[in-house]
Amino acid sequence: MKSTFMVALSCLAISCSRPPMRNTRLDPHSFSNPDQIEAQELDLDCDVLFDRKILQATATLTVARHAGGEDAPLILDTRNLNIEKVEAAGEGGSFSKAKFSLGASDPILGAPLTVTLPAGATRVRIRYSTSPGASALQWLDPPQTAGKKRPFLFTQSQAIHARSWIPLQDTPGVRMRYTARVRTPGDLRAVMSAANDPHAPRTGQYSFRQPQPIPSYLIALAAGDLEFRAMGSRTGVWAEPPVVERAAREFEDTEQMLKAAQELYGPYRWGRYDLLVLPPSFPYGGMENPELTFATPTILAGDKSLISLVAHELAHSWSGNLVTNATWSDFWLNEGFTVYVERRILEKVYGRPREEMEAALGRQELEREMSRVPARDQILHIDLKGRDPDDGVTSVPYEKGALLLRSLEQAFGRDRFDKFLREYFDHFSFQSITTATFVDYLKQHLPGAQDKAPLEEWLNKPGLPESAPRPVSDAFTKVAEQARRFAGGEISAAKIRTGGWSTHEWLHFLESLPQQMTAGQMLELDKAFSLTRSGNSEILQQWLLIAVRNQYEPASARLEEFLTSVGRRKYLKPLYTELVKTPAGRVRAREIYRKARPGYHPIAVTTIDGIVK
Ligand code: BES
Ligand code: ZN
Repeated sequence: MKSTFMVALSCLAISCSRPPMRNTRLDPHSFSNPDQIEAQELDLDCDVLFDRKILQATATLTVARHAGGEDAPLILDTRNLNIEKVEAAGEGGSFSKAKFSLGASDPILGAPLTVTLPAGATRVRIRYSTSPGASALQWLDPPQTAGKKRPFLFTQSQAIHARSWIPLQDTPGVRMRYTARVRTPGDLRAVMSAANDPHAPRTGQYSFRQPQPIPSYLIALAAGDLEFRAMGSRTGVWAEPPVVERAAREFEDTEQMLKAAQELYGPYRWGRYDLLVLPPSFPYGGMENPELTFATPTILAGDKSLISLVAHELAHSWSGNLVTNATWSDFWLNEGFTVYVERRILEKVYGRPREEMEAALGRQELEREMSRVPARDQILHIDLKGRDPDDGVTSVPYEKGALLLRSLEQAFGRDRFDKFLREYFDHFSFQSITTATFVDYLKQHLPGAQDKAPLEEWLNKPGLPESAPRPVSDAFTKVAEQARRFAGGEISAAKIRTGGWSTHEWLHFLESLPQQMTAGQMLELDKAFSLTRSGNSEILQQWLLIAVRNQYEPASARLEEFLTSVGRRKYLKPLYTELVKTPAGRVRAREIYRKARPGYHPIAVTTIDGIVK
């Protein structure tokens, strides 16, 4: 096996200017040609203009040519960018105008920007501005923030939205280091997916450096009235003033999780690990931006019950950010590995019963998802050609991927499998790999894997192999029994023994109830447990889903309040989908969506537009 050290040595010998040779263009979601000419560094100089809701910026890319790409133009991805000027320069030389053309715009991919480079050019400088509807950006007015006084901006680049705010090779197969200078109005603080210095004065001018090569989907920026609270020497929280204290308490176990992850999978190779709590319109639960996880405020439950999200985003520091999916068809390499690592971290910090509950909920969710999505979306190595990669995001890459790793762990034993995984992260560190590369590595380093796990079935067939693990939780068995007795009329809601139930047990209870409930049962449950008033976003969302399905009127106002205040796609999608199933529900969905839509992120809008028509 080639060690990272040897790779580094051989790299030095050839002075490292050429990235490793690649001979195929793998990614159907990028117009770029990294097989011929590849960006290695990005420098971004950027003004954040809140009044016009645009970024005005200059991006300078340092590129290297591969053999065979000597005369090739540089093709970049863009979406709705106004390109003002393109220049090129050789090593150490000065910039002069370069010829460029913007191709026709594709509804999913955006438009290719083709730059003709003079011989010897190694740097390309592009002056441009974004458009107000840029798919990565959400511009929030003060009322949409926690503090209500200042505006807020944040980006979401994954999967293919980086191109809507930076012209670049927007494919996870290309990795770049970056530097940036960002100017904001007044004293708004800007932070990026890099080490953020909490002591930097709030002058409206900030600079950043991400020294590790990362894929474009991990480039991130946010600006707002942000404060910092340290948790450990390398961990902390950024949030608006009304939220920051609460967030620091909720996430206080972060340092412990980081230690657990390192014991399992080797050193944390990024400088800091901070979290940024965003306003509630953030379209995801979390986003693993390097050194600065972006997180939804809906996980601030007050009792740390939803911090598996921190374990998840932290786990991406190994699976995803260190070893990266080369294309969106390989997305399960990011998410399946991450869910597996997330649960190993949770087990180490909170014990096995907690891990078992999370894993059991995961398998249940997967089975429900499999019954909803078409066969082609039940495949780990998914074909996304012609589709928006955001549409491939179901629980399949997450939970089916994690089950595959769990089955290998069970087949080979923990000691062996842990060693394998740790070496895998070392071997492919700071590289982007495909499913085929993983399979080759697996066969070589865990011989017999293909006999112990039906790999072809796992990776390329819908559904789950018969031998897939079935995580069980003793705590859940008891919960399900109570749900069954309540549903069957054996016991009243008041008699259900819920004393000491964790959030996970509540979630399992709700999921164990029959799809159809009587109005009396709904009312009884709500009276006994105040579910409509729950302050736990997961429990509330699950309850609202049941309420919509059973047309439980008393939850109607709360449903509207939830849908108009939270923009997390994972919550919105099932609720709107359930609503539109009946004619009356569809009317209600339209009515709520009309009010809610202006507050959602463009990514959530795209999803919900497809549901509420
Ligand atoms: N990287 C994902 C979020 C993502 C996936 C953004 C695909 C865009 C396209 C992140 O790590 C994630 O999986 N977030 C989950 C939470 C997690 C605990 C399962 C989410 O947002 O719900
Ligand atoms: Zn993830």
